[in-house]
Amino acid sequence: MTSLDDGLVEIDSDETNLDTEFVDREHPRFISLELTNFLSYKQAKLEFGEFIALVGPNASGKSNLVAAIKLLREIPTYGLQTAIARRGGFDQLRHRSAGRPYDPAIRLTFAMGENPASTYELRLGAVKGQRYKVKKESADVYWRGRRFTLDSDGSKVVWTDARQNGANRRRAEFVVAPGQSAISTGGLGGYVVYDALQMMQTVEVNPAKVADLQEPSSTREFDSDGSNVTSIYENLDAATKRELVDELAAIVPGIESIEVARLADRQTLRFRQRTESGIREFYAKQMSDGTLRALAILLAALQRSRPGLLVIEEPEVAIHLGALRTLVELLQVQSEQSQILITTHSADIVDALPIDSIRIVWSQSDASHVAPISEHSKEPVRLGLITPGQLLRSDSLDPAI
Ligand SMILES: Nc1ncnc2c1ncn2[C@@H]1O[C@H](COP(=O)(O)OP(=O)(O)OP(=O)(O)O)[C@@H](O)[C@H]1O
Ligand SMILES: [Mg+2]
Repeated sequence: MTSLDDGLVEIDSDETNLDTEFVDREHPRFISLELTNFLSYKQAKLEFGEFIALVGPNASGKSNLVAAIKLLREIPTYGLQTAIARRGGFDQLRHRSAGRPYDPAIRLTFAMGENPASTYELRLGAVKGQRYKVKKESADVYWRGRRFTLDSDGSKVVWTDARQNGANRRRAEFVVAPGQSAISTGGLGGYVVYDALQMMQTVEVNPAKVADLQEPSSTREFDSDGSNVTSIYENLDAATKRELVDELAAIVPGIESIEVARLADRQTLRFRQRTESGIREFYAKQMSDGTLRALAILLAALQRSRPGLLVIEEPEVAIHLGALRTLVELLQVQSEQSQILITTHSADIVDALPIDSIRIVWSQSDASHVAPISEHSKEPVRLGLITPGQLLRSDSLDPAI
């Protein structure tokens, strides 16, 4: 059901028929993520950067921030209902502390290219007899001189589309199915939000999936557990394959080349590695977990459709201490093209990063909090008296609050 209000000018339809590829080319820059009553957070704001690292004790809330990103990321792929189900259902998402659980909300702020900052917000609520409803979904999107707004109460959806100076404003109403997101209802405005969400990539490598024989797939989307690395690798151009092999060799010495080997209707990666007894070939199944994890992380960063934001939980897992710095340096180079967010318990990683890239996560008064490092913690680091990793080890990194 679509209706254009009388008296509003319809924008030349050629312009609104741009395909998604076109929207894709403009990279979003992610600015912040605000959570309200979401998992362990009552109210929190995470500021992104080129490269940020979340540090904090076990169960402090690092993965819960990542969970919010995953939820947003899965809306374009699975739809909101399935995205919520994949996170354990609505009830699990609601913040629980003393008293009753409240309605969770997520707000993402990002900018498309050089445009002013755009926002997307989703607020969910409980419904008797049903699981949840979308209480409010809104967006204010700036893109190529245009401004799109979304205002939805979970059933009636209103999109507006105008020049940034307010000219040529038009308004369209739609109806959205209960429990679903309105971002796919709104033409170009919806595409921009959809694409921004889709440009967030989380990586949770499962080495067994990387090693398994894989079915060839034409998708260009990296599976976060590594289960389609063969197809993603095959899709790289020759120069990027070389770059990936060189980077992997910096972490796992001796790797000389990687190719996709076909075995009946399945495929796997075959590595050529220099060993003491000469050059040998190994299938992914024979490679170490650390090698497969490092490979998948590098591939996620170098894949053909580069993510706007790459999220990696605990990249230190299964990586040799001596190679960690190399991995972080490689990621820092990639962060010029894709923003990166990691969670980590590693003092060595923290030491390899600028102090401003660290975000402290902690739990207090029944809720999680996140903040950059306080000035008084930064001071001795700037003076060279102590390193951020030493502060982490002695539990004396203080948040700026
Ligand atoms: N709905 C909820 N309401 C309140 N607290 C919750 C909710 N769901 C999870 N939590 C809390 O969040 C904690 C888990 O947080 P999270 O997984 O983000 O920790 P983490 O910082 O990633 O820890 P680790 O370093 O061990 O991975 C749980 O221990 C639980 O106390
Ligand atoms: Mg965690």
